[in-house]
Amino acid sequence: MPTLTYHGHACFEVSTEDYTVIIDPWLTDNPQADVGPEQIECRGILVTHGHADHLGNALAIALRTNAEVVTTAELAQYFIDGGAGRVYPMHIGGSHQFRFGSVRLTPALHGGSVAGDETGKYACTPCGFLLDMDGKVIYHAGDTGLSAEMALIGKRHSIACALLPVGGNYTMDPDDAVEAVLMLKPKVVIPMHVNTFDTIRQDLSGFPATVKTATKGKTTAVLLKPGETLDV
Ligand code: NI
Ligand code: MN
Repeated sequence: MPTLTYHGHACFEVSTEDYTVIIDPWLTDNPQADVGPEQIECRGILVTHGHADHLGNALAIALRTNAEVVTTAELAQYFIDGGAGRVYPMHIGGSHQFRFGSVRLTPALHGGSVAGDETGKYACTPCGFLLDMDGKVIYHAGDTGLSAEMALIGKRHSIACALLPVGGNYTMDPDDAVEAVLMLKPKVVIPMHVNTFDTIRQDLSGFPATVKTATKGKTTAVLLKPGETLDV
């Protein structure tokens, strides 16, 4: 049974007895982060896109831990050029079985520039991830607007836990996320990418009740604080 740990903004760690995978490890400068990048020990690093609040400390963690970096092909090249030892390029729609579990890349409606890249050569289409560890599927949507693609994801995958951006402005807002939940049909939904800075402030106090009503109790919304964990 995987355990999810929230490190704030869009960063989650997923751990089983044998492996730990981190997604979008923006920790330095992340006002919500409960840990520093030097405290992370992991086998895999999943990066949804190149914006600073997702790419974050991914390269530094890869260089120190030799964890395998999984991301879209163009962003993967950024890690290869940066000296990361183990990089696995993929692209949207593709899936691969790793030691730690299987990963499928999903579409995300968002921008593709890479922080710190002045050439533009690493720019790419952002993605989300379906991560299957110990038979439990976790969907990290990345940064995305509400998308009809989510209906297909919900139809084809039995999602234990969906991690959805709800801050608005750059991504879905809480109302959009409820609509996404109706398509994805996860057992649990955890809001992310919210209240980190002023442009993504939202009041989530009514979100769990709204989700419960909209899904007739089939999906539970859990508001995780940084440092908190949840058994999936
Ligand atoms: Ni972004
Ligand atoms: Mn973002």
